[in-house]
Amino acid sequence: MNFTLKVWRQRDAQSQGHFVNYEAKNVSGDMSFLEMLDVVNEELTVQGEEPIAFDSDCREGICGSCAMVINGRAHGGRRGSTVCQVHLRHFQDGQTLLIEPWRARPFPVLKDLITDRSAFDRIIQAGGFVSVSTGGAPDGNAIPIAKPVAEQAMDAAACIGCGACVAACKNASAMLFVAAKVSHLAILPQGRAERERRVLNMVHAMDQAGFGNCTVTGSCEAACPKEISLDFIARMNREYGKALLLNTVAKKASGGD
Ligand code: SF4
Ligand code: FES
Repeated sequence: MNFTLKVWRQRDAQSQGHFVNYEAKNVSGDMSFLEMLDVVNEELTVQGEEPIAFDSDCREGICGSCAMVINGRAHGGRRGSTVCQVHLRHFQDGQTLLIEPWRARPFPVLKDLITDRSAFDRIIQAGGFVSVSTGGAPDGNAIPIAKPVAEQAMDAAACIGCGACVAACKNASAMLFVAAKVSHLAILPQGRAERERRVLNMVHAMDQAGFGNCTVTGSCEAACPKEISLDFIARMNREYGKALLLNTVAKKASGGD
């Protein structure tokens, strides 16, 4: 297969970026999208040119590193797939492919297709954990959890923190990511003790990072490679409302404002 690639090249965070054309010639339809970029990069290196910078790690859809937009669709637009899981046979021979980084102010471009997604790390640091000493591995059935509850928590925990939800949202909202992280802990008994503090702190960190508001367009859910449901956003809004209320009541009871 042959493709014309229009790739976003940007020297560093301070420089202006622009699209550069490359030809990917005689590549196999069974190659992954990232393998094609590897081939193009090998040719660029042989020619003495700088290879295209992009993130990847697991190359099997679990690390969330391979963040890029292909022809305007986060992760290339194949349902339930990250870029590393997209194969060239899903495109048309001879097609032109526009390849760019996530476009969202809280994810500044560091170089070419690599963005700084540490804003997500700061949100997790604000509360995406259970702060108890867990000691050794507990017995598997020490805290019985009903199967539907465990499955719901697992559905939320499937989020790989890739940021496609933000990239696909016209408001650059991170609500789907934060909702998944808040929910997977709040649903389980181990996470309930800190649930109010957690949701307040994580939403605050999200706002501080400059992500936009959710206007329920559903583009995040459509772009999410782990098919995280919008229902989790509704769940987080309920968690947040309850936490605000409890916080206000607690402040009044202690004589605060
Ligand atoms: S919610 Fe989906 S799109 Fe957003 S960070 Fe998690 S896995 Fe990626
Ligand atoms: S490289 Fe890990 S999800 Fe794509």
